[in-house]
Amino acid sequence: MNEIVWSSVIVRWVHIVGAVIAVGGLFFLRFVVMPSAKTLADDAHEALRAAIRRRWAMVYGLCVLLLLGSGLFNYMAVSVPQHRGQGLYHALFGVKFVLAAIVFFVGSVLVGRSPTFEPIRRAAGTWMSLNLLLALIVVALACTLKFIPAVTPG
Ligand code: HEM
Repeated sequence: MNEIVWSSVIVRWVHIVGAVIAVGGLFFLRFVVMPSAKTLADDAHEALRAAIRRRWAMVYGLCVLLLLGSGLFNYMAVSVPQHRGQGLYHALFGVKFVLAAIVFFVGSVLVGRSPTFEPIRRAAGTWMSLNLLLALIVVALACTLKFIPAVTPG
């Protein structure tokens, strides 16, 4: 009899919750907070930006850890046994992983303070839109992976 593997369900839940908060947060910041904050006076705008940066850095950092941990578990414990020898699955997973790494990197640079990346922070709107687009491609790849038939049923 096929039984539900609860550890896999919980780890998948963690992965999806991490994705919802990280991608939803990026969307909210880019298309709701940024345009609204532009209506504020310069000093109020700056104070709001600093306060959001501090809090979002913590939330985003936690999401990155959850996505990485749960994603690696999902891949090693669930996907590899189910898709052994299936080149297409693992190639698409590789693309998803690299794009996710770029999303993590750009997101961290935007909330970071390193002077090297100041030009990126000065064009934050453009980089956030680009990062959001990449994150949506990552989600599209995840949906595709889900529907590649397993070689060995889980
Ligand atoms: C921007 C970062 C990421 C986002 C937004 C994201 C999003 C998602 C979503 C929405 C799913 C679908 C879950 C389901 O259908 O049950 C998924 C599945 C998955 N993710 Fe991620 N993910 C990200 C990063 C990662 C990383 C870094 C890894 C690996 C280390 C990873 C590994 C996986 C695996 C193995 C699956 C299962 C694919 C399948 O159904 O065969 N993800 N991801």
